[in-house]
Amino acid sequence: MDRPPIIAKTPALLRVPPNAPLSFEESRRALAGLPGGGLNIAHEAVDRHAAGPRATRVAIRWRGAQGARRDVTYRELGALSNRFANVYRSLGVGKGDVVFVLCGRIPELYAAVLGGLKCGAAVSPLFAAFGPEPLKTRINLGHGKVLVTTEALYERKVSKVAGEMPTLAHVLKVDAAADRAKLDAASDRFAIERTTADDVSFLHFTSGTTGMPKGAQHVHGAAVMHYATGKVALDLHDEDVFWCTADPGWITGTSYGIVAPLLHGVTSVVDEAEFDAERWYGILEAEQVSVWYTAPTAIRMLMKAGVELAKRRTYPALRFIASVGEPLNPEAVWWGMDAFGMPIHDNWWQTETGGIMIANTAAMDVKPGSMGKPLPGIEAAIARRGEHGVRLIEHAEQQGELVLQAGWPSMFRGYLDQEERYRKCFADGWYFTGDLAKRDADGYYWFVGRADDVIKSAGHLIGPFEVESALMEHPAVAQAGVIGKPDPTLGEMVKAFVELKPGNEWSEELRLSILGHARKRLGAAVAPKEIAVSKALPRTRSGKIMRRLLKARELGLPEGDTSTLEESGE
Ligand code: WT7
Repeated sequence: MDRPPIIAKTPALLRVPPNAPLSFEESRRALAGLPGGGLNIAHEAVDRHAAGPRATRVAIRWRGAQGARRDVTYRELGALSNRFANVYRSLGVGKGDVVFVLCGRIPELYAAVLGGLKCGAAVSPLFAAFGPEPLKTRINLGHGKVLVTTEALYERKVSKVAGEMPTLAHVLKVDAAADRAKLDAASDRFAIERTTADDVSFLHFTSGTTGMPKGAQHVHGAAVMHYATGKVALDLHDEDVFWCTADPGWITGTSYGIVAPLLHGVTSVVDEAEFDAERWYGILEAEQVSVWYTAPTAIRMLMKAGVELAKRRTYPALRFIASVGEPLNPEAVWWGMDAFGMPIHDNWWQTETGGIMIANTAAMDVKPGSMGKPLPGIEAAIARRGEHGVRLIEHAEQQGELVLQAGWPSMFRGYLDQEERYRKCFADGWYFTGDLAKRDADGYYWFVGRADDVIKSAGHLIGPFEVESALMEHPAVAQAGVIGKPDPTLGEMVKAFVELKPGNEWSEELRLSILGHARKRLGAAVAPKEIAVSKALPRTRSGKIMRRLLKARELGLPEGDTSTLEESGE
């Protein structure tokens, strides 16, 4: 079927006119600032609403995995986060400290995060599907002082590496009687630490091609960006019920699952359970979700379940759907038209950008397959970095690296303890994203691929080095090379190739043993789905595993021709 290249605004959008573009200056003015000066995300997100006309509005509408429901109002969230802040402070936590939060998607997570911001600490939410190894790595890299978790997660994960995190001084289990009592006894009033726009708010770990994850440092001033993009990219209006399906262990779930909706004082749906097509449609209908922010893998899983399932219910409140994290295929955009009567609006950003940079906004026509256009105040370009500096590619349709003019409010301010790595991301005032893209004649950007070897599986960025390191802990493994193998649902799946130590024979039993080891150490979200043996992994002269060659072989491409593979970032 021939389809037009553009989808014009749909009836749901015309019913509620899209927000007008707004500048960062206007967004800055929309924030209150701390009484007496300074800026703190938690004050903007919760306290100013808790003290105003939105006090009794539902901030978090929680649906438990087992059917429980809980509504938390802005006033209650303000009080609960104050309790956390008081407990942290009693533990000596303040500016310069890092609080890690490893809870599933439960209301306490939101209060624990906001409480950390209130006492001036940097907060780092962790993904509950990580295994003990990635958790330990991040807590150690971040010099974590406090970990907030649950009894079950402590038992299943943290206890396995409990003695291996030297900086960790305190563990708070939100459902343990003793810690509950501490929180209950703490005051529900708290004077927020005087932070400024340049003080660190969040520490988000992200992966590169080489080495362990990098802790991207974000600042309180990012609130300006989250406010602006909440309005322009997600089209949040005053009465909206918003559902961001991302877990706060990834930056989408923090910037847009916690901060942006609360800044706008809307109601946020939080679902504790994992993906389930029926459940999700039920939530969209029953909670009257009006703005929905999700991811391509989830949409592809819904598509797999059949459009009839979507059509069994009605979604009269739904007005705007957005997606992020990996390429959104044009079919998925069109499927949105079929299932919900509206396209899915792709947008682009990354951990380092802190907020949405490029988007198909509600005010724009959608080009299926394109990430959209740079938001107001964002200057993007396609560039090449060479010996003679940065060369911008002015011509439409030409591929290069996607770059952004440095200085937007939510730009990361460093990789913790890795100044050199941070510096290398910038040249001539441009930030280099590591993504290859092109721009068309209408100014829409199209994603081409990654410029490095990181893997995107189900929207999650996975560093091959971290996986290879865990595999090499297995007694039979000498070397490992890990790649992203194209997968119709996940985008990419993690595939590992292992070289065995002398004296080991490849067998089904050994394969399962290595797979089991990886799952136990890394967790289901990161562990390889496939493991194959290799007699001799391809290496460069300096001994580095050539992942690109492994990938070429896997895809059946001629070994000399790696032209369709992404260029190595090395
Ligand atoms: C990488 C960033 C988006 C914030 C959460 C993930 C890829 C992101 C798109 C898109 C194609 C996309 C890029 C980017 N990516 N959005 N709309 N189309 N690719 O942040 O884990 O730091 O990952 O995700 O490669 O660099 P992240």
